[in-house]
Amino acid sequence: MTKSPKRSTERTLRFGLAAAIIVFLAVGVAFFVWKDDVQRWVANDVAEIGGPFELVSHEGEAFTRDDLIGQPHILYFGFTFCPDLCPTTLFQIASVVETLGKKAAPLKVAFITVDPERDTVALLKDYVGAFHDDFIGLTGSPEAIAEATKAYRVFYRKVELEDGDYTMDHTASALLFNADGSYADAIAYDEENASAEAKIERLVETNERS
Ligand code: NI
Repeated sequence: MTKSPKRSTERTLRFGLAAAIIVFLAVGVAFFVWKDDVQRWVANDVAEIGGPFELVSHEGEAFTRDDLIGQPHILYFGFTFCPDLCPTTLFQIASVVETLGKKAAPLKVAFITVDPERDTVALLKDYVGAFHDDFIGLTGSPEAIAEATKAYRVFYRKVELEDGDYTMDHTASALLFNADGSYADAIAYDEENASAEAKIERLVETNERS
């Protein structure tokens, strides 16, 4: 006895419907697992900004993250040839430090170059000194700079110019860290002075208490 074409079609439809339901449920479950993973990843991402580095200070001495631990600190990655972002941000931080006066004494501010090819120790010394006597300039081998930027989740990229020269694209935020090296906050480029001041003041105060 052969099956009627009608019964066969019904079976195919029923099977197809069941398969569709299974696929639908699987996609749903996968989405929630994925969403959970993404949220966990984002949370970890903030917690993991920062890490050890081995660079050279504007005095020509070895400088590692340990030289910052124990005091709240601000790190800014840029380059001395930067036409606007870097000078604007460093000037703002210097102004806030001046305004806070003695209160900002425990704070360390370091400028890390993303252009080690041009930013020599001597150049960095003149550059950071132009903003504030206590600012620290850091450079190193291209590999050491690459490692530091990776640890701090900083982006940078060399951009060739038409005249044969080059400039650098780079993350424009200043990063604020607690005395233990944990990430505290960030100051965006073009953030208002009052807001930058409030963040730096909070950083210093939080670390006074601990
Ligand atoms: Ni810059």
